[in-house]
Amino acid sequence: MRVTIIGTGYVGTVAGACFAETGNHVCCVDKDASKVAALSAGKPIIYEPQLEQLVRRGLARGNLSYTTSVRDGTRGADVVFMTVGTPSNAEGDADLGFLEEAARETARAMDGSLIVVNKSTVPVGTHRLVAEWLRSEAAHPFEVVSNPEFLREGSAVRDFLRPERVVLGTGSKTAFETLKQLYLPFVTDERLILETDPVSAELTKYACNSFLATRISFMNELSRLCEALGADIESVRHGMALDARIGRHFLQAGIGYGGSCFPKDIRALLATAKDAGVPLSIVAATEDVNETQKTHLMSAVHRHFGASLAGRTVALWGLAFKPDTDDVREAPALILARELARTGARVRAFDPVAGANARALLHPEVELCESAYEAAENADGLVLATEWPELVRPDYPLLKRYMREHVLFDGRNALSMSQARGHGFAYYGVGRGAPGKKGARRDTKRLPLGSGRAA
Ligand SMILES: NC(=O)c1ccc[n+]([C@@H]2O[C@H](COP(=O)([O-])OP(=O)(O)OC[C@H]3O[C@@H](n4cnc5c(N)ncnc54)[C@H](O)[C@@H]3O)[C@@H](O)[C@H]2O)c1
Repeated sequence: MRVTIIGTGYVGTVAGACFAETGNHVCCVDKDASKVAALSAGKPIIYEPQLEQLVRRGLARGNLSYTTSVRDGTRGADVVFMTVGTPSNAEGDADLGFLEEAARETARAMDGSLIVVNKSTVPVGTHRLVAEWLRSEAAHPFEVVSNPEFLREGSAVRDFLRPERVVLGTGSKTAFETLKQLYLPFVTDERLILETDPVSAELTKYACNSFLATRISFMNELSRLCEALGADIESVRHGMALDARIGRHFLQAGIGYGGSCFPKDIRALLATAKDAGVPLSIVAATEDVNETQKTHLMSAVHRHFGASLAGRTVALWGLAFKPDTDDVREAPALILARELARTGARVRAFDPVAGANARALLHPEVELCESAYEAAENADGLVLATEWPELVRPDYPLLKRYMREHVLFDGRNALSMSQARGHGFAYYGVGRGAPGKKGARRDTKRLPLGSGRAA
């Protein structure tokens, strides 16, 4: 099949390279010439495990290419996927400007009948707008399909190659069957390709993200109660996660969710619900809790060091909104960096891959370091903001030698509390009581549940 992808960000680059893996002829279009040049040279500018190998393989096979021209990219195409950004506007609605531009350009470039698939996350009803934009400029027939994407940054290639489900919202049997053929190589069972109407498809994406965010905010709010009562949220989480009705994913208390999807998608769903006259109070509370959670760890920092951090140096480990990505959009680490600097601390930050992206968004006085231990040099305290595997198992004796005072603020409950305390560190987690307070003394002895962060 001849497939065009419009927008080579996290979703488009992965989708394009994966569709090429299964033998399709794929052309990816982006208006950002620097992205197109980098991809054409086999060097994606985003960090995503396995992506570079896939892009290089596709280029070498000759069935994957990149261009800045929608006209060149859509020549002879059977299917065009829209994977452009849909950021929040000032009111919290999804800004559909990129999508409209992409749809209109596609309509003008069409050289035959086309299936136009919207993979961007869009408010319910956007498929109708896309059809209108196309209709006003297209000289050929088309079908519109809503196909929300569920990949997770950090495991995007794996997720795309083995999706848990594929949701296809369309009223056209032909369009559904064509896309089903495109996706069949990726699924273990064709029943995982769900046929639905476009409105339900669009809402499914928001429902998933807001439900997952709700679980996170629930645990974050509960963690505050744990702190007040001297309970350990990690122990509570463990007891909850073994309940098959609850499961283990997205129960991790921490410094709040961030990234390019949850915050904006929740705002967009709230805006849609308001317009529909059906306020979603649970989703609204989820967002409220998340906003306050981003700075909640600062209360532990101030409890330890006092209201002013003047003269203090704080190491900040992790800037990406989660491990295995260089994405810093709405990352809680950036809020913590700002708060630490605002209250007088000298902040020395390190992230294994997201430093360059964070630079433009960080408070100008935050220093970016080349290594985790360099960031910790002469620090009075250390804040863990992203649970990168290489950061959560530090060499405690070495860290102790680097730091001036030995205080750890674990914003992800990912360090070993017992090891940290065993090596003489004061340890503050989220929802784990203060050091020396009754309760919250030991790491929870766990069945192999994993972190529960993976999904
Ligand atoms: N990032 C994720 O993990 C993820 C997961 C699922 C769904 N989504 C959704 O997918 C969409 C894309 O997300 P992303 O993170 O890949 O975005 P992104 O910002 O990383 O990439 C979007 C790309 O589209 C390009 N673009 C914009 N308008 C264009 C046009 N008219 N013609 C050509 N290129 C154009 C931009 O230059 C950019 O490279 C969003 O709606 C997002 O909510 C994202």
